[in-house]
Amino acid sequence: MTGWYDAAGRLLRLLPPEAAHRLAVRALAAGLVPLPKRRDFALLKTRLWGRDFKSPIGLAAGFDKDAEAIGGLFAMGFDFVETGTVTPRPQAGNPKPRLFRLAEDHALINRMGFNSAGLEAFTARLSGGPWQGWVGANIGVNKESADPIADYLAGLEALHDHAAYIAINISSPNTPGLREFQARDALSTLVGKLMETRSRLTPEDRRPLPLLIKIAPDLDESDIADIAVVALEQHVDGLIISNTTIKRDDLVSPRRNEAGGLSGRPLFDRSTALLAALYRVTEGHIPLIGVGGVASGADAYAKIRAGASLVQLYSALIYEGPALIDRIKAELAELVSRDGFTHIADAVGADV
Ligand code: FNR
Repeated sequence: MTGWYDAAGRLLRLLPPEAAHRLAVRALAAGLVPLPKRRDFALLKTRLWGRDFKSPIGLAAGFDKDAEAIGGLFAMGFDFVETGTVTPRPQAGNPKPRLFRLAEDHALINRMGFNSAGLEAFTARLSGGPWQGWVGANIGVNKESADPIADYLAGLEALHDHAAYIAINISSPNTPGLREFQARDALSTLVGKLMETRSRLTPEDRRPLPLLIKIAPDLDESDIADIAVVALEQHVDGLIISNTTIKRDDLVSPRRNEAGGLSGRPLFDRSTALLAALYRVTEGHIPLIGVGGVASGADAYAKIRAGASLVQLYSALIYEGPALIDRIKAELAELVSRDGFTHIADAVGADV
């Protein structure tokens, strides 16, 4: 099976990156990918927001932007899947090429710019479950939107009854103005309105749908403090740390100066440091999802010890292929057991 993946991976890497990505999503959606037997590890089971997860390992947003391949992604071994970013109205995104492999750096640069089939198509697909695990929906805004807050509210409203959680993307570097929502007053207004809408949509006998905020890695200390204050005051259910970076340190690949967001290995240290900083300032009161540069069980474990309750990845999948997910889980279980933890949750924040 690994041989099949290696061959398929080599073929995909011969294609331009976005064409390879389209092909991978189509093959997964059509069930054309032969999948390894899923292995579950008792040590990795965890519970968050009143929900059970078979392991903390999930797929980050941006791979399945239009919720086309959810079943295949669970079959591949992910234990939760974040679909999107979806925008209210369909939009094409930026001109191609807009996705670049930086193979020497184990990284990608993308400036997709929220290519999205729009909420209507997305919601129809997402509601086509049941799925084998929790499916989050990451929501954004249309590029030409006159009222970005209304766009986020529209996303929440449409997806409220279909997603396991909503991730508010205020951190993509490829939509002008989006990251300004990370400033304290703007964030507070946005989150306040989302919380109001959520209250209105929550039936009396149901627990509110978890609302998470996805943040950028390029934040200074005062930004971090502002985000923590708003998240704590308004009882945000989680933070996803982090999106891609606009920084370019120590890269060697020819494409290193392409505009857009950098992901993969060079993002690991920066995003893990931010994760630990937020775990510290929120004193562990807000569940954190660690994402950025995870390519091994040791990387996932480092995120957990830095404060992550769940972990996501995307870029490493491009370089390592689907066999990576089972490998990460097996390595992670081994590390957790080596350190004498009986549950993965006991390791959360161990290094902070
Ligand atoms: C992304 N990412 C992303 N994030 C998000 O919130 N909404 C999105 O639509 C996208 N789109 C997207 C496209 C591509 C091609 C890439 C590589 C990444 C960011 C992604 O979810 C994640 O936060 C970063 O890529 C860091 O994780 P990895 O890739 O280093 O594991």
